[in-house]
Amino acid sequence: MPIKFPFRNAKLNKTEQPIGLEGDHLPKHVAIIMDGNGRWAKNRGMPRIAGHKEGMNVVKKVVRHASDLGVNVLTLYAFSTENWKRPKKEVEFLMKLPVDFLNTYLPELLEKNVQVQTIGEVDALPEHTRHAVNEAIERTKHNDGLILNFALNYGSRYEMVEAVKQISVKVKSGQLTADQIDETLFENHMFTSDLIEPDLLIRTSGEQRLSNFLLWQLAYAEFWFTDVFWPDFDETLFERALYDYQNRKRRYGGV
Ligand code: FPP
Repeated sequence: MPIKFPFRNAKLNKTEQPIGLEGDHLPKHVAIIMDGNGRWAKNRGMPRIAGHKEGMNVVKKVVRHASDLGVNVLTLYAFSTENWKRPKKEVEFLMKLPVDFLNTYLPELLEKNVQVQTIGEVDALPEHTRHAVNEAIERTKHNDGLILNFALNYGSRYEMVEAVKQISVKVKSGQLTADQIDETLFENHMFTSDLIEPDLLIRTSGEQRLSNFLLWQLAYAEFWFTDVFWPDFDETLFERALYDYQNRKRRYGGV
């Protein structure tokens, strides 16, 4: 019998019968595009960075909940290769967020057995950001609970071009032949090579696009969108997304 998780907050569900998640049919890997921080702040007459700060608090709630529910991997799009185009002050603020997050939350991550990982060009981040992230990776590396994977300075096209370059070098040097290049080999050259592929993509804020996020890895993922801005996202909506996922039929091109 599958374990049923009740919804935490009946608010969103008051017109329906109580619904529950099936514990043995959860998405193993959930990827999230956390969008709408700027608009959330603007609607309140606040600076955009206030939205990012509130967004960080939501990250804590969602990580805690994903870990409690037994999700295996949570990949969060925290900073894209395109986000450098934002005003300098905003970029500086975004670069401080992982530092604040890990300063305040690392003890709980350790207690919850969460392992921190990253995808993206972390070496190109400012020293303080890199330091905080690398310390979290190091201190959580033996944990075997939820993998909390931050996409930081991540761009999917960049990732694929880099994979092609690495493979080309190997072919040129005779380490590989062109015939040996297949999907598995290509995947093995991606940032996500050690992760299972995402089952579910969540995007908040009403936008329905991928914005250069995990273009290869999301080939067979289920997509779930909400108009809610990321700072208003919560455990109930997370469960709603998981519940809807459980009611989708995945066919992978079959019947
Ligand atoms: C998109 O909203 C959000 C981002 C580019 C940053 C996301 C970062 C967080 C939610 C905090 C991350 C926390 C940690 C711990 C790394 P937007 O600014 O594009 O919103 P808008 O579309 O309304 O302008």
